[in-house]
Amino acid sequence: MVSEASEQSRTAPIDRVLVCIPTYNERENLPLVVGRIRASVPTADILVLDDNSPDGTGQVADDLAAGDGQIHVLHRPGKQGLGLAYLAGFQWGLDEGYDAIVEMDADGSHQPEQLHRLLEALEDADAVIGSRWVRGGSVVNWPLHRKALSVGGNIYTRALLGMPVHDATAGYRAYRSSTLHTIGLRDVASEGYCFQVDLTRRAVARGLRVREVPITFVEREIGDSKMSGSIMRESLQRITVWGLQHRADQLRRISGTVATTVSGKLSDREPTWHRL
Ligand code: GDD
Ligand code: MN
Repeated sequence: MVSEASEQSRTAPIDRVLVCIPTYNERENLPLVVGRIRASVPTADILVLDDNSPDGTGQVADDLAAGDGQIHVLHRPGKQGLGLAYLAGFQWGLDEGYDAIVEMDADGSHQPEQLHRLLEALEDADAVIGSRWVRGGSVVNWPLHRKALSVGGNIYTRALLGMPVHDATAGYRAYRSSTLHTIGLRDVASEGYCFQVDLTRRAVARGLRVREVPITFVEREIGDSKMSGSIMRESLQRITVWGLQHRADQLRRISGTVATTVSGKLSDREPTWHRL
């Protein structure tokens, strides 16, 4: 069900868009993706979130920013995970008064040429997910085990959290700023990739409208993925805990409803007993 807050915020126009790009060792990829964003959505500003990459990506970002007033850089002290980099970027975007904030990987997996799809869908949504696992979505150049991991992870997430979302772990997204205000960023603790699931479940829980649009995810050609065993463990643990909490809340709600109904039924009967 879509909440009243959502009905109001979704009518606001989206003029200023900020694309946040987290980077860790992406010196070759960054100029390519930035160039493609500037070409495909020239009105959007860009914020690079670099965790002091040892390969000098931060300097590459500074050089790009020096030649283009629409490019900004946030230098962070060291590798602290995707989630924390995004939270810092979101806060910067909110403070600067952007209407919408986009998440995009630096490695070319998310096509800047498809960004307009997300932004168009955001006209009538609080958050939009660029989804690999809806009709029309796809993944190019992923080995079978990575596909299985993503599909399996999404099935597990859906089963446990009961969300009507097909790609809750996706990293190509657009949020209205009002959505980030409503979600509240302060107590988001997820550091790694489960940050994506965390924000999705928070948006759904607050009755916000989350839409999915199909995207083509193309596996990187340059550099390495930062996905690791510990990142996956964090995701699995957190999703399981959220799932159990969700189920416990559901049970509490159901037993509350049953108790109210039973007591309502008993009190309905009272006059009848009096009459007997
Ligand atoms: N600042 C910062 N700090 N950036 C990071 C960090 C970090 O600790 N870890 C990764 N990144 C950046 C990478 O440089 C890249 O731009 C982006 O985050 C995604 O990292 P990849 O390592 O390329 O991710 P992936 O291709 O394995 O994972 C993709 O799929 C995941 C699961 O579906 C991404 O789209 C994820 O967002 C998504 O959750
Ligand atoms: Mn990648």
